[in-house]
Amino acid sequence: MITDQVARTEDRPIDQEADLFKIKAIDHIEFWVGNARQAVYYWKYWGFKPIAYSGLETGNRQYASYVIEQGKIRFVLSTPYGPHSEMAAHHLLHGDGVKVIAMEVEDVESAYRETTARGAKGVQPPGDLQDAGGAVRMAAIQGYGQTVFRFVQRTGYSGAFLPTYRALPEDTTVKPVGLAAVDHIVGNVELGKMDHWVNWFHKAMGFRQIVHYDDKVIHTEYSALMSKVMGNGNGRIKFPINEPAEGRKRSQIEEFLDYYVGPGVQHVALITGDIIKTVGELKERGLPFLRVPQAYYESLPARIGTIRERYDDIARLGILADRDDEGYLLQIFSRPIQDRPTMFLEVIQRRGAQGFGVGNFKALFESIEIEQGKRGNL
Ligand code: FE2
Repeated sequence: MITDQVARTEDRPIDQEADLFKIKAIDHIEFWVGNARQAVYYWKYWGFKPIAYSGLETGNRQYASYVIEQGKIRFVLSTPYGPHSEMAAHHLLHGDGVKVIAMEVEDVESAYRETTARGAKGVQPPGDLQDAGGAVRMAAIQGYGQTVFRFVQRTGYSGAFLPTYRALPEDTTVKPVGLAAVDHIVGNVELGKMDHWVNWFHKAMGFRQIVHYDDKVIHTEYSALMSKVMGNGNGRIKFPINEPAEGRKRSQIEEFLDYYVGPGVQHVALITGDIIKTVGELKERGLPFLRVPQAYYESLPARIGTIRERYDDIARLGILADRDDEGYLLQIFSRPIQDRPTMFLEVIQRRGAQGFGVGNFKALFESIEIEQGKRGNL
């Protein structure tokens, strides 16, 4: 619920966090999709191994759900069995996309209490799910659009994932590609709603604003956007938020909002320790990535300076590079991973730099606009 209470800025400066409750890590990200069984095969190309399942055979009569894993990344793919459920309605409206961002916390009660006391809307009060593996305590609050933030406390739980899920036999056909952890999760919100969500993260979640880019920085000839990055104290959880800005044509953020029918997760960035190897393998498997014009690579060495990777490899694979005070980063973006031009993935390697590749935004967005043009959406 958007209340005045949340919209008002907290007394604490925007760049300071409050230690409201302890977040350990991203526990999982749940996608609601049209056909989870088939989606599992898509994600195998990305190197994700199916590890757990919930569905009719495990006593779950509402939906089928598969847990897939690579490194510390855990995704859940869920599909409703029938038309009469929140999950079915959600899929009809939004198509495939991220429904739940789950954070492992030390204490679900305090996470729920602190956030809802500060204006977050509760959607699931704290409660235990139990099976032979023990108990997992969970609660959830409403995030942007219909996206939900879930708190998970799995002290001592020994089951495959969560109660109702059972372990799947080892899938030896999957070859991991070195994706290790979630780096950041980006949300697109409507025009004029940026500050509401920045304040929501600041006040209700106790996060701080790490950095912000305005539309003077992020623009092309046709479109512009604003971006602010919110994060928790230890910097492990980073949530950039994008809002469209006035431009001559329809921005990629507006295209997302039109096709997702509202705000939601635009991209999830996954960390690798060796982007040349990871992207080389993914390209070999035929996964499509955005490509910037070749001219980008002519000026790259002068802009970035000495790096440990070979510029030849970077250009060959279409990887982007950016440098800041602390070091450099390498990144690449996939095309949308479902038919609607909505969510995509980023693969990122950090060599010191803690930014998000602002030096690449212009070249990248021009590439996105070429694709938008092909879709008739520019
Ligand atoms: Fe990103």
